[in-house]
Amino acid sequence: MAGYRRWGKSKFQKNPESSFKLLTVVLVITLYLIIKEFSSPVIRKAPRYGARIQYAEWQNGTDGADVDKAEKVRGAMKYTFWNYREHAWGCDDILPVSGGNSTSRNGWGAFIVDSASTLALMGLWDELALSIEHIISIDFSTAADLVDPFETTIRYLGGLVSLVDLIDAGLVPTNIIVKKTRDQLVQQAVALADSLGPAYDTPTGMPWPRVNFSSSQGVPDPPYVYLENPDKVRYDNPVIGPARTGSSILENRVLTRITSNSIYAKNATLAWAPLVWSKYTSPWPGMVEAPLDIVTGDPVGRQRHWDGGHDSYYEYLVKITLLAPSSDPYMSVYRTTFLDAAYALRGHLSSRSASAPEHTMQHLFIGRQDDKSYLNRQGHLACFAPGTILLASKFYEQPNLRTFALALLEGCHHTYTSTPSKIGPESWSWIPKFGYDDPEYTPTTNRQQKEWEKMGYWSTDARYKGRPEYVESLFYAWRITGEARYRDWAWEAFSAMETYCKAPFGYAQLTDVFRVKPEEWAGDGEERWIDMQESFWAAETLKYLYLTFSDADVASLDRWVFNTEGHVFRMIR
Ligand SMILES: *[C@@H]1O[C@H](CO)[C@@H](O)[C@H](O)[C@H]1NC(C)=O
Ligand SMILES: *[C@@H]1O[C@H](CO)[C@@H](O)[C@H](O)[C@H]1NC(C)=O
Ligand SMILES: *[C@@H]1O[C@H](CO)[C@@H](O)[C@H](O)[C@H]1NC(C)=O
Ligand SMILES: *[C@@H]1O[C@H](CO)[C@@H](O)[C@H](O)[C@H]1NC(C)=O
Repeated sequence: MAGYRRWGKSKFQKNPESSFKLLTVVLVITLYLIIKEFSSPVIRKAPRYGARIQYAEWQNGTDGADVDKAEKVRGAMKYTFWNYREHAWGCDDILPVSGGNSTSRNGWGAFIVDSASTLALMGLWDELALSIEHIISIDFSTAADLVDPFETTIRYLGGLVSLVDLIDAGLVPTNIIVKKTRDQLVQQAVALADSLGPAYDTPTGMPWPRVNFSSSQGVPDPPYVYLENPDKVRYDNPVIGPARTGSSILENRVLTRITSNSIYAKNATLAWAPLVWSKYTSPWPGMVEAPLDIVTGDPVGRQRHWDGGHDSYYEYLVKITLLAPSSDPYMSVYRTTFLDAAYALRGHLSSRSASAPEHTMQHLFIGRQDDKSYLNRQGHLACFAPGTILLASKFYEQPNLRTFALALLEGCHHTYTSTPSKIGPESWSWIPKFGYDDPEYTPTTNRQQKEWEKMGYWSTDARYKGRPEYVESLFYAWRITGEARYRDWAWEAFSAMETYCKAPFGYAQLTDVFRVKPEEWAGDGEERWIDMQESFWAAETLKYLYLTFSDADVASLDRWVFNTEGHVFRMIR
């Protein structure tokens, strides 16, 4: 078990009344400026633009494709696609061990929409043609179950507008689409975004956690969320985390550019305004306190971290400054907020692990702050941070952040390379080297003790869920530093997934990255697999792996911005 430790006195407090008034005035002016900004036509008239992000001193063709390896990853995508096509076409996802299917993403065929941009970048045109045929037939006016605006925006809306951008960039051959295909895809994106509209119908503009498509109304998270978490504090109003309210700006900006309708960007901007222009002073500037009340916009909890639930808000702060018009008056606010948050992460949450008996090397991990306690625990999801911070370090010319990001990436690499499978666990803990001699920070079970002695950390959840974050950061590291070892690490990770995750009908999740051989399990050893393959396996994990081995000019970071689901959008300023 990971331990808690007192962080010292809480600096969380409301501002005194006088500065509160001042901040209210600032907020009102800001909202006025936001509305004014989006009623101007400047967005669609802006010229094409790129940024200098990727490494530029490649020599002797080192930026070229590693053809064999790229082809192996493409083969894994084909295996994934055709199994789904044969056994679960039109369902949200296939179950990779049994060949069954699941409807957990409202039944519109999540896999198809989510994987289409990967098919396009890999040049799998037959597969893409089949996918587009399905996509233009989806009825986005009705949904199986309540709709989660966050998941729907990043997976479905992101996938749709990415396809439009790929077509507009001339990257989809005209023989697989007819002339009206592009406009049909735009219509689908508009239909979906309009159905999501009621999400933003709150006093603050922060989204409802769910939308009921039958009644066109926003609703709180379903009660079962509370039933599963009986200890969870109940709040007066519905609450939401930073990632869910702060990760719609990229997709909606692109939709506004494509349609010239400012409402999408406007609603998405209002949705994250209470985070960016918070009237509360967080103890660490730039890092928000969560969760937040969607009616008042106030934080009602004191969690601060970059892990799951908060992650993509920070990611979108830097990415919007790459994507959006340079004339946007908020770009410098987003940039400053991101930098504050990144330095706060470095200063307050990153933690070097202490040496262990059989592993003296120390690693940099990132923990989390929960009220007054520091929690020495990192999730796989937080391994997105090295890539995003590296991207910012290049764009904003911050060499200190580059060093920090690459050290974090080494930490994530260690969690992969130290396990028998060479795949990292879902979450882990460590004994912090500095300032933490608290006995609560030590491993508790026998297994944890053994893992700590051998590796310098211990797993707190040993599953691998097919997640992309580690290979995503390797992709950024390879494209930005040009150092071959990141390609090598990506190959090591892919080879392990190919060996241990490949199942009869796709790629399964792993029950325990420390026990992956069939003979280590009872019966036929199928228990080593979890019968799930989330659509991000195809949307992100395989895409980032492929792009690490492709020519560095494919989906260049100088011209494309990736949303948090791996969908690519054109940089147009
Ligand atoms: C590129 O090739 C030149 C000439 O063969 C050689 O001198 C140089 O060291 C090479 N650079 C790299 C990075 O391999
Ligand atoms: C999905 O699974 C159900 C049973 O759970 C089955 O009836 C249905 O045919 C499957 N769908 C497809 C497309 O195979
Ligand atoms: C925009 O937000 C308003 C609430 O302010 C909502 O009524 C409307 O449906 C939203 N539209 C879209 C396209 O999101
Ligand atoms: C959604 O709204 C419809 C129509 O008002 C209602 O019948 C249904 O119970 C609602 N669904 C949920 C899950 O709340």
